[in-house]
Amino acid sequence: MKEVVLGLLGLGNIGGGVWDLIREFGSEVEKRTGLSLRVKRALVLDKRIHGGKEVPDEVLTTDAADILEDPEIRIVCEFLGGEQPAASMMLRALENGKSVVTANKMALSLHFDELRAMARKTGAGLYYEASVGGAIPIINAIQSPLIANHIEQIIGIVNGTTNYILTRMAAEGAEYETVLKDAQRLGLAEPDPTADVEGMDAAYKLSILGSLAFRSRVYVEQVYREGITRITPEDIAFGREMGYVLKLLAIGKDNGDAIEARVHPAFLPADHPLARVDGSLNAVYLYGHSFKDMMLEGRGAGDAPTASAIVGDIVQAAQNATHPIPFLREQPVPVADDWQSKYFIRMKAKDAPGVLAEVTGLLAGEGISVSAMMQKGAVPGGKATLIVITHIAPEKAVQRVVKSLNPEICQVENVIRVEG
Ligand code: HSE
Repeated sequence: MKEVVLGLLGLGNIGGGVWDLIREFGSEVEKRTGLSLRVKRALVLDKRIHGGKEVPDEVLTTDAADILEDPEIRIVCEFLGGEQPAASMMLRALENGKSVVTANKMALSLHFDELRAMARKTGAGLYYEASVGGAIPIINAIQSPLIANHIEQIIGIVNGTTNYILTRMAAEGAEYETVLKDAQRLGLAEPDPTADVEGMDAAYKLSILGSLAFRSRVYVEQVYREGITRITPEDIAFGREMGYVLKLLAIGKDNGDAIEARVHPAFLPADHPLARVDGSLNAVYLYGHSFKDMMLEGRGAGDAPTASAIVGDIVQAAQNATHPIPFLREQPVPVADDWQSKYFIRMKAKDAPGVLAEVTGLLAGEGISVSAMMQKGAVPGGKATLIVITHIAPEKAVQRVVKSLNPEICQVENVIRVEG
C-alpha cells in the first residue's frame, strides 16, 4: 500500500464531493490500486463553515501555505474556481513539485501555457479531466486512447445549464426568461447566469478541448461566442417543423490551414447523435481520421460526477512515474474569423409581391443558394413569418445579406447556424 497525501484548495460543492467520495469509496480505490488516499489539509475561508462535512479540525486551514508549502502533500486539488487566486496557487504547487488536479476551466484556459511550462520544468503533473464535461473522460480520451488520430472535428454540448434551458423551452414552448427563472429556483442555473447563458463557460471549455484535440493553442479570446438569450420558442418550433433540434454547441474544426472555434446556438438534424442529448447532460462528438466518429455522453456538472473525474485524476497522478504533458505545436494554427455553415434565417416579411424575390436576390448576389423555405401566417398586405434555410455559405456573406435587407419590407428576427 502506498499512501497518497492530498491537500484540497476549497471544500465547497466540488471539494466536499471529493471529500465524500474518498471517505465512501477510498478503501475500494485502495483495493483496486494499492493507493491509500489521505486528505491532510483542506483550505476553507472560515473553519466554522465547510458544507456540513464532518472534517476533523486539524484538517481544516485558512492558510493556503499550509498546503502549498507542506512537503508531505504530493497532490494539490484545486476547487476554488475563478481565475485568481486559483491560477497562482496551482502555479506555486507545481513550482514546489506537487502535482495539481483541477476542475477549473477558467484558470486553466487562461493560464494553460504557464501551468504547462511550470509542470514541464519541475516534472510535476497537471491533471484536469473534470474541467470539461465533468465525469466524461474526454480529456483522457483525446490524449491517450485516441492519440493515433488526426482529430478533424469536436462538437460538444458542454454546458448543462443552457442545455437544460433549451430542452425545456423546446418541450414546453416556453420563453427563455420563464425557464431561466425556474432553473434558478431549482438551483440548476446560477443567480448570475451570465457565464453559462452567454456561452463563456463553453468557450473556456472549447479553448481547452480545441488546444488538445488540434495540438495547437486555441485562446479563449479567439473563440467566437454567442449565447442563448436571443433564442425564442418560435425559433425552436419552426426549426423543429423543418427537422431540426436547437442546442448550444461548442464547435472546433481543424481545416488544415485554420482552426474554427465557435460557441453559439445551432440547429442539428433531429437524427444527429447530439440532438437527443437533453436536460443538463453533456456530450462530445468527435471525428478522427482513424476512429471515424464517436460520441461520449454523461454528467457535466454536480459534486459526485465531478468528484468521479477528480479522484480518477488523483489516482493517475499518483500512479504515473512521469506525468504526460500534451504536445502542442510551437507555431499555433490561426483561428479563423470566417467559416462555412448552413443558416436558418427567420424573418417577418411583408406579404406582398416581390418580397421573396428581394430576399432570394440578395442571397443570390452573394452566391448563396436556398435549400428550404417556409412561410407562415400569410395575409395579403400583412406580415408573414418567412424562414429560409441556406445551403453551405460563408458566415460573412450571410451577415452582409442580413445587413442589406430593407427593414421596411423584411425584418430579420434571428439567424441561427445549422450544423451537421
Ligand atoms: N456551469 C456549468 C454547466 C457546470 O452548466 O454545465 C460547470 O462546468
